[in-house]
Amino acid sequence: MKKLSVIGAGNVGASTVQRLAESKFGDIVMLDVVPGLPQGKALDLMQAAPLMGYDVDIKGTNDYADIEGSDIVIITAGIARKPGMTRDDLLNINAKITRDVCGNIRQYAPKSIVLTVTNPLDIITYAAYKYTGFGKKRVFGMSGLLDSARFASFVAKEVGCSVKDVDAMVLGGHGDNMVPLPQYTTVSGIPVSEFLPKETIDRLVTRTIDAGAEIVSLLKEGSAFYAPSAAIVAMVDAIINDSARVIPTSVYLEGEYGFSDVCMGVPAKLGKNGVEKVIEIDLSPEQVAALSISEKAVRSGIEKLDLRVYEKAFVV
Ligand code: NAI
Ligand code: 2OP
Repeated sequence: MKKLSVIGAGNVGASTVQRLAESKFGDIVMLDVVPGLPQGKALDLMQAAPLMGYDVDIKGTNDYADIEGSDIVIITAGIARKPGMTRDDLLNINAKITRDVCGNIRQYAPKSIVLTVTNPLDIITYAAYKYTGFGKKRVFGMSGLLDSARFASFVAKEVGCSVKDVDAMVLGGHGDNMVPLPQYTTVSGIPVSEFLPKETIDRLVTRTIDAGAEIVSLLKEGSAFYAPSAAIVAMVDAIINDSARVIPTSVYLEGEYGFSDVCMGVPAKLGKNGVEKVIEIDLSPEQVAALSISEKAVRSGIEKLDLRVYEKAFVV
């Protein structure tokens, strides 16, 4: 039986736990700093088990000892941007939370695969890569699959076809500079440009880039969690079932696409060891330029990380 741990029992964490339970991959631990929160949600989810037919254990906890021996740890712990807070404030706070989480993962789940979700995603993935020291195959981030799913859902709606027939790909950092690739977007293998005029595709690209913000402005409080948790569970599925799916994943780059010492969304083959391979595809000069802008934005965030804290965190 696999053991999966989800750090953070907020919107994304708890909906991920629900989807993991319903997927019956293994036993689940849900951890949060707030006393009672993960315990209450775990109890509720366990009471749904007879109705939904999942026979896995779900434990809510505030104690990291409970994640001991986890095969996969998913990090959703953090805070969202509040009024008056800058992106840098968010980065500093979530990086510190990530440092604590990773120190505990090193102690209690040293063999685990770590999937980061907390924002700013690519910078936090870089931080987790540094904090854990687990290597690029075992530490990577979810965002490109979510962004690609958003693009695919918009294309399907506009074309008037099943979402099952749409394949879309979004690369780069998870932010305003993400790089949707309409040239690699197809409907049953047929380029989307055969179905939609350029202006419509451009509009859908812009909507994809703004998709997270569109939901935030509608919800007023909090951000998306249904599609994010679905993307997380699809990546967990690829790992647990060793399915070699090619999924846009935020990975530590070492020369791929011409970038080094940075984490960013690129197509990666996921399997039982985590990132089995980074896939390098041909990009047009415009796409390379867009990826380069995205990389610069991520790198400027990485440069703001407090490296002294990271060095300290390596002493476990
Ligand atoms: P939320 O506010 O509902 O939940 C966050 C949880 O983290 C809270 O329950 C909080 O108590 C907990 N937490 C805070 N510090 C902690 C610590 N030190 N240890 C353990 N738990 C701690 O937020 P939500 O909606 O669940 O989002 C979580 C994160 O995921 C945010 O950073 C959000 O921006 C990000 N996100 C990323 C996406 C992506 O595509 N990568 C998509 C959606 C959300
Ligand atoms: C999203 O894209 C907030 O990153 C999150 O919905």
